This record gives sequence, C-alpha cells and structure tokens, in this order.
Amino acid sequence: MIRLVELGPRDGLQNEGARLSVEMRIEFIEKLIDCGVKNIETGAFVSPKWVPQMDHSFEVLKTLRAKQKSGDIPKSIRLVNLVPNTQGLSDAIKADVQEIAVFTSASETFSKKNTNASIQESLQRIEDVIKQAKKQKLKIRGYISTCWYCPFEGKISESKVLNVAKKLNAMGVYEISIGDTIGAATPKEVRSLNKKLIKLLGKKKLAMHFHDTRGTALANILASLDMGITTFDSSLGGLGGCPYAPGAAGNVATEDVVYMLHGMGFKTGYNLEKLVLVNKWIAPQLGRTLKGAHPFKPSKT
Ligand code: HMG
Ligand code: MG
Repeated sequence: MIRLVELGPRDGLQNEGARLSVEMRIEFIEKLIDCGVKNIETGAFVSPKWVPQMDHSFEVLKTLRAKQKSGDIPKSIRLVNLVPNTQGLSDAIKADVQEIAVFTSASETFSKKNTNASIQESLQRIEDVIKQAKKQKLKIRGYISTCWYCPFEGKISESKVLNVAKKLNAMGVYEISIGDTIGAATPKEVRSLNKKLIKLLGKKKLAMHFHDTRGTALANILASLDMGITTFDSSLGGLGGCPYAPGAAGNVATEDVVYMLHGMGFKTGYNLEKLVLVNKWIAPQLGRTLKGAHPFKPSKT
C-alpha cells in the first residue's frame, strides 16, 4: 500500500489567484475524502498578510473536526494543518487540530523569503512549536523545502539538506517530507540524495514532495519508489505552488500519481474516476483547466 498525502486544499489553493469561500474549501475536502483520501492538509495557520488564500483555515478545520466528531467524516481521516510558529499553533489548537506540519528549508534565502527567518531561527521556532504540540499529544510532520534547487540560490548541496533533516528528526517529527519546491530535480539527483537520507533516517520516515514544473515529478516518484520509499505528497489537478517560489508549478497531480501506481499494481485506496470528477468540479471555480483529468485507461480501438 502506498501512503499518499493530499495537498490540494493547502499547497494547491495557497497559490491560486481565485479565493474560494470557506464553504467551498470544506466541500472540496469532503469530496476528496469521498475519493478515498486518508491524509489531507486542510489549511495553514500562517499569516494572512503573507498568504491570504489560507485565511479562515480556522473555520475550515473547526467545521471539519465537528463533522468528524458527529460521524459525518470518518475518525480515521487525518486532517493536517501547516503551522509556522507558536501563534499559529495556538490558533490551530483552538480549532481542535490533531496533526500539524512544521516547515523549514535547506536554502537560507528561501527560508528568509518564505518565513522571514534564517534556517536556524526557523528551527528554533519549530522547536518551540513541537514542545507545545507534544504536550497536546499532536502528531507532527516536518517539511524541508528546496532540497535540490532554490529559486534564488540555485543548486543546494546534499550536506545542507542532511544537516537540516538531522536536526528536524531529533526534534521528534514522525516523518520528513523532502521538497523539490520548484520542480527542478531529476531522478539521478533524487536517487543520490535519497540514498543518504535513507541511511540517516530510514525509508519509513521519508515522504517525497515533488512539484511538477518541468514534468519530472512522476519520474522522481518512480526513482524513490524503486528505493523503497512509499509515502508521496500530491495535489488534485496539480493545483498550486508556493507563493514564495517564483515560477514554480503545483505539486504532481494526484490523478497522475494514482494512474501510474494503480497501473503498476500498487494500491492507494483512491478512486481515480471520482478524483477526475472532483477535478472537473473545482476547475471552473478556479477559472482554469487543471492537470490530470484523464480518468480511463486508453481503449484498444
Ligand atoms: P513575520 O512578519 O516575521 O511575523 O512573519 P511576526 O512574528 O513579526 O508578526 C508580524 C504579524 O504577523 C503580526 O501581526 C502577527 O500577529 C502576525 P500584526 O501585529 O502586524 O497585525 N502573525 C500571524 N498571523 C496569523 N498566523 C500566524 C502568525 N504569525 C505572526 N501564525 C510568518 C512570520 C512565519 C508568520 C510569516 O512569514 C508566514 O506566515 N509565512 C508563511 C509563508 C507560507 O505559508 N508559505 C507557504 C507554505 S510553505 C510551502 O508551501 C512549502 C511546502 O509545500 C514544501 C515545498 O514545496 O517545498 C511545505
Ligand atoms: Mg510544496
């Protein structure tokens, strides 16, 4: 079984021009859950001045958690929210969060642009967040951005990524998602870094987060899969990108990942036909065509 983490409502919507209402965001998430999604980022408790699209993540999460408590949404669904600092954490806790994701970067310049903090400062913030989150018995996922390339610094050395991964791991995250934030890595580079990360953390602690700017994301997933990594992030329709990574496309489309994995005999628990219906439903709300709307295997005729 492959574990997929759906990021459309967060990594996706955070970089869309169109702003969806709270009701629409909730409907989107519920539709994704109906497709078989089990792990899903529903929003981000970041500053609305920095990322206005993620404003009202509080209402989104609070409503979803209430639905989970009343049984409308299965309790097994993991609703994850991005948290940059203790201010975000305390808001997320008020919205009854159960799982958070903390994030830092392997590039100093990206870290500054994305969070107004050096890598060291961001790790300090994360440590404060994790200390408090553990008291509340929350699950904590970690992200490292710009693990191969940075939009400002270019190629990032593997030692920088390993250094940050070691520190993040020591703080007690259950998993680290390795980000190709601008979608520039190739399979050879992915294999090389993954080999060292596996040695450092083990396969089970790693997730891969590929943006798909240059069409290399599926190849990079395959390269990681061949090395025994089984957790991958994706976004319905390839939505979004990072507002602080100029020129970067969205995550790899969930539909494309599911198509490839099912075709190779892997199980995901997702229903591809239903995902495509969600793609066709959300695309007009965002005013553009999305990737991944190819539901069926090509016919022989
Ligand atoms: P800052 O301006 O340095 O923060 O931003 P500050 O502590 O100086 O506070 C300034 C103001 O922000 C204050 O408000 C605070 O209350 C407010 P004011 O007094 O001016 O009215 N503030 C907040 N408001 C709401 N929620 C909060 C919060 N914290 C402070 N949590 C900060 C620092 C980290 C907040 C800011 O830089 C930020 O929000 N950055 C987030 C950027 C972001 O969301 N980027 C995209 C997500 S990361 C990503 O996409 C990459 C990933 O997908 C992996 C990959 O692809 O590589 C994960
Ligand atoms: Mg991302």
